[in-house]
Amino acid sequence: MVRPLGFLVGLGFIAALVLAILTTPLKNEPNAAHEIHKHPRHLALTSDGLFPHWDKAQLQRGMQVYKEVCSACHSLNLVAFRNIADFGYTEGQVKSFAKSYDNIPSINPDTGEPATRTGLPSDHFPSPYPNEVAARAANNNALPPDLSLITKAREGGKDYVYSLLTGYQNPPKDLPKELQPGTGLHYNPYFANLNLAMAKPLNDGQVTFADGSKNDVEHMARDVSAFLVWTAEPNLVKRVWTGWAVLLFIAMFTALTYLSYRNIWADKKH
Ligand code: HEC
Repeated sequence: MVRPLGFLVGLGFIAALVLAILTTPLKNEPNAAHEIHKHPRHLALTSDGLFPHWDKAQLQRGMQVYKEVCSACHSLNLVAFRNIADFGYTEGQVKSFAKSYDNIPSINPDTGEPATRTGLPSDHFPSPYPNEVAARAANNNALPPDLSLITKAREGGKDYVYSLLTGYQNPPKDLPKELQPGTGLHYNPYFANLNLAMAKPLNDGQVTFADGSKNDVEHMARDVSAFLVWTAEPNLVKRVWTGWAVLLFIAMFTALTYLSYRNIWADKKH
C-alpha cells in the first residue's frame, strides 16, 4: 500500500513541476513601455576586465562632479571622506575636503539640541536632507537613493548609470499617452518605466576640471559613473590582483608537487 502511495505522491510532484514549467512565460508580457525602453550603452573603464587599474585622475574628476552636482540630492552613506586618499589626495587635502561639508548632524554639547558641524575625515558623505520626509518633499515625492552602491544595485551597473545620465531627451512624438511624462517627471528611455522624478542633472560645461578635461555631458557622465564604480567597491582592483597572486602561487605549488612526485617515484638506486 505504501509503495503505490509513494509513487502517486511522486507523480503529483512531477506533474506540478511540469505544469509550472509549461505555464511560466519565458519573457514578461510585451507592452509598449518594454518596446521603447532601451538597453544601456556600454561604458569602458580602466577598472574593467582581468587586468584592472583605477584611473585616479578620472576618479578625482568624478568626485568633483558628484560634489558639485549630485550631492545636492544624493548621499554616499557608505563612503568616508578619508577613503578618497585611495585616489591620490594627501591627508591635508582630505581634511579640508571634509571640512567643506558643514551639515554633519550632531548635538550641541551645551544645550543638547540637535545641531550641525563641519566634517571630519572619518565622517561619511552626508545626505543634504535631514530625513526622508524632507527629501521627498523637495523631489516631487520621489526619494533620491543613496548612491554608494548604485552601480551594483541596478541591472546594467555603470552602463546603466552612464546611459541614464546621458539619456534625457524629448519624448518621441508617437509616444502613447499613458507613457508620456506626468507633471514633475522627465522622459528617459533608459529608466525602467521611461519617466523619472530626477530632472536632467548634467549640462554641458557645468563643472570645470582643474586638469582641463572635457566637461560636456558625455565626459562628466563617464567620470561620475567611474567614481560610482569605486564607491561601490573600492577594493575591486586589489581583489582582482590578489586573485592573480593566488593563482600564481597555486601554479607554482602544483609544479613543485609534480616535480617532487617525479622525484619520489624515480627509479633510483639506493
Ligand atoms: C535635484 C535633485 C537631484 C540631483 C541634483 C541629482 N539627482 Fe539623481 N535622483 C533624484 C531623484 C529625486 C531620484 C529618484 C527618481 C525616481 O525614482 O523617479 C534620483 C535617482 C537617481 C538614480 C537612480 C535611478 C533608478 O534607477 O532608480 C541615479 C543612478 C541617480 N539619481 C544618479 C544621479 C547622479 C549621478 C547625479 C549627479 C550627476 C544626480 N543623480 C543628481 C534627484 C537628483
